[in-house]
Amino acid sequence: MAEVLDLDAEMHKGYVEQLLGGIARQLAREPRTVLDIGAGTGAGTLALARRFPHAEVVAVDRAPEMLARIRKASERNGFGDRVHTVEADLDAGLPTVDPIDLAWAALSLHHVEDPDALLRQLFEVMEPGGTVVITEMESQPRFLPDDIGIGTPGLEARCHAAAASRGWNRYPDWSDTLLRAGFEMVEKRHDELGVDVDDTARRYAHAVLGRMRAGFEPALSGEDRDTLDLLTGHGPESVLHRTDLVVRGDRTVWIARAAKTHGSVMTHGSVIRP
Ligand SMILES: C[S@@+](CC[C@H](N)C(=O)[O-])C[C@H]1O[C@@H](n2cnc3c(N)ncnc32)[C@H](O)[C@@H]1O
Repeated sequence: MAEVLDLDAEMHKGYVEQLLGGIARQLAREPRTVLDIGAGTGAGTLALARRFPHAEVVAVDRAPEMLARIRKASERNGFGDRVHTVEADLDAGLPTVDPIDLAWAALSLHHVEDPDALLRQLFEVMEPGGTVVITEMESQPRFLPDDIGIGTPGLEARCHAAAASRGWNRYPDWSDTLLRAGFEMVEKRHDELGVDVDDTARRYAHAVLGRMRAGFEPALSGEDRDTLDLLTGHGPESVLHRTDLVVRGDRTVWIARAAKTHGSVMTHGSVIRP
């Protein structure tokens, strides 16, 4: 998982920087405290720290090994003093944090058991006028042309159908959840992402298809499993070598604002800044 997240971050670094640039232009002021919800290996955390050089960035995740990677990467990039990691299970609620100017939840909110409750708690700890950004992937990344020259055409679509049938990445339109929590919508948009096929893209395809092979094995036919073995092996049919590889992805982005008047900010019933 960490390997896929790191490769995904490398592949989509330019997109995230561009997205954050647009968001920064919409902010009323430089954020002082930024929260990365379900930070993983820190794709967002590092981009946020880079984009907002005066902000304290708090990365929350329940996986200590992910947080350790974030700490190392932050040190390497010179952000060690203002990137803070918090190990917490968001299913138990948002940990106590300082008032937040900008919250970022990339590919993570659909993992949380009660996103309604989490966004309500987030609204409570947002600075008035603070911004929340949620991103999700509408479909898994795509790497293969329909007819890949081995196996029965449509392998990738069948893999994605197998993932969907297991509830992979299922999420609602977060606009309604944001509104119920008290936020007002600023923008919702869908971006198609295409990147050049280089060595990183090949390793990314190898890792993602390998996870599909392992994760959805019972839902795939023997022929599809054999084809995936060839694609994720190291021979001439492998995605590490084929010339017909493509890399396509997408992100849906929700941007919302906590329009509220100044007052006490509460989290789990305790006032943390009057
Ligand atoms: C798909 S990854 C996304 C990581 C990162 N935001 C990114 O864009 O690369 C989802 C992350 O959410 C974390 N996560 C899932 N459920 C969680 C929970 N209940 N509490 C805390 N973290 C959680 C996982 O550990 C994982 O790191």
